[in-house]
Amino acid sequence: MNEKEFYMEAIDNLPVLAEPANKSLREKFAQVFYDFLQLQHLYDSAIEVVKTYLNILDNEFSVKFQRDPIHNIESRLKSPQSIIEKLRKKGLPITTGSAQKNLLDIAGIRVTCCYISDIYAIVEMLCRRDDFTVIKQKDYIKNPKPSGYRSYHLVVNVPVYLSAQKKYAPVEIQIRTIAMDFWASLEHQLRYKPSASITPAISQELRECAEQIAETDLRMQRIFMEINDLE
Ligand code: GTP
Ligand code: MG
Repeated sequence: MNEKEFYMEAIDNLPVLAEPANKSLREKFAQVFYDFLQLQHLYDSAIEVVKTYLNILDNEFSVKFQRDPIHNIESRLKSPQSIIEKLRKKGLPITTGSAQKNLLDIAGIRVTCCYISDIYAIVEMLCRRDDFTVIKQKDYIKNPKPSGYRSYHLVVNVPVYLSAQKKYAPVEIQIRTIAMDFWASLEHQLRYKPSASITPAISQELRECAEQIAETDLRMQRIFMEINDLE
């Protein structure tokens, strides 16, 4: 029994859909479900492709320079609920095809680096791969968001070699320092707390914190350069 037949049988056991009159609805339901599973598998595999490459780079640095530019790598697949909510918010059709066409952040990776220079080194190495196509690039370090948010965002179209064909999937990669991640994590928690009322004064204070943290990041970068005799 293949996966689609398995779901077909499971759906057949749903009382409403089991009625003979609902046969075409049942088939549609199974198709949507199966398409979605395939989509999840593709995006999950694309995450693995990028993570493997990042780990190779990090290990290479470790061998060559006895240090790891990458402090941490996290990844996530956007949940079906978030995908539906985002499509609905944008007024787009709620189908797997529409999600694939319109959403660039179904697959997400967050890379935390030690120093600002590590971020740009990682970006350069990701852009240099000739089988990765950069489809979106935003430097929120040179141009911070009005909130104070800083990170480098890249969306890369990544090839995934499946059993019968090669497919592509976009992966959103957020690259930031440990300090930028500290601010972004806490700011996100504060802002999205259900009871939160973020007044303009609080927004201003959060922005000032981000600026102080950015200043510290630069000082740490200078110390690192000085200790390692770098320009
Ligand atoms: P989305 O529809 O939200 O994905 O917007 P977009 O396509 O314009 O992407 P954007 O470049 O704004 O980056 C979106 C992601 O960056 C968010 O999902 C967050 O993870 C992160 N982000 C952007 N702005 C902020 C911010 O002000 N605070 C925090 N904590 N995170 C942010
Ligand atoms: Mg997003």
